[in-house]
Amino acid sequence: MVSVAIDGPAGAGKSTLARRLAAEMGYIYVDTGAMYRAIGLYALRAGKDPKDNAAVDALLPQIELRLASIAGEQHIYLKDEDVSAAIRTEAAGMAASAVGANPAVRAFLLDLQRSMAKKQDVLMDGRDIGTVVLPDADVKIFLYADVEVRAKRRELELQQRGTPKPYAEVLREMEERDYNDTHRAAAPLRAADDAIMVDTSSMDFNASLELLLDVIRGSVSN
Ligand code: DC
Repeated sequence: MVSVAIDGPAGAGKSTLARRLAAEMGYIYVDTGAMYRAIGLYALRAGKDPKDNAAVDALLPQIELRLASIAGEQHIYLKDEDVSAAIRTEAAGMAASAVGANPAVRAFLLDLQRSMAKKQDVLMDGRDIGTVVLPDADVKIFLYADVEVRAKRRELELQQRGTPKPYAEVLREMEERDYNDTHRAAAPLRAADDAIMVDTSSMDFNASLELLLDVIRGSVSN
């Protein structure tokens, strides 16, 4: 089985690029951020503080998380409800970052993530894929960009979605999420020692896509 790990901070272009790269290579795309978002959303809906580890731990046995690929798109379900759209809010992103610091949540998702990579060729994106989830991945990429560039991209995305937010607020939230993700004790965001570092600050989507396709094809054919 081939596995490709793509890690990096919020807003580096991971998921948009990863989705396309997986389609080009014929691999299943696994968006691990969506899993943390679904658990964050579950905690919010249950009226729990996502930062409260004990409260979230108590919810885990009831969470039925399921992923399915429909027409090449990953859909994520909580029991029978498709929450793929509901998890895309900024609130769910912050809640995901909070539950991502919880070791029990990480352990809960680790088995699921690893079992997916055993069954099929995958391109998995997240924060700890190259370091913890798939340390033997065939290709590891760490995708990043300056925080101002990432905030600008997110501002534009929110505008296009019809939910605009001032740049200063987007930047502040992004810095907060970067801080949480890199400073937590459990599997913090960090590049694996053998990751290929790709800075997309001054690259547009197509340039990034071409570069990453070359990197993946080059590594997989070796
Ligand atoms: O990639 P994203 O923005 O959808 O991820 C949401 C949050 O989930 C992110 O801020 C941290 C957490 N996360 C994580 O801890 N580990 C992963 N492998 C993926 C996401």
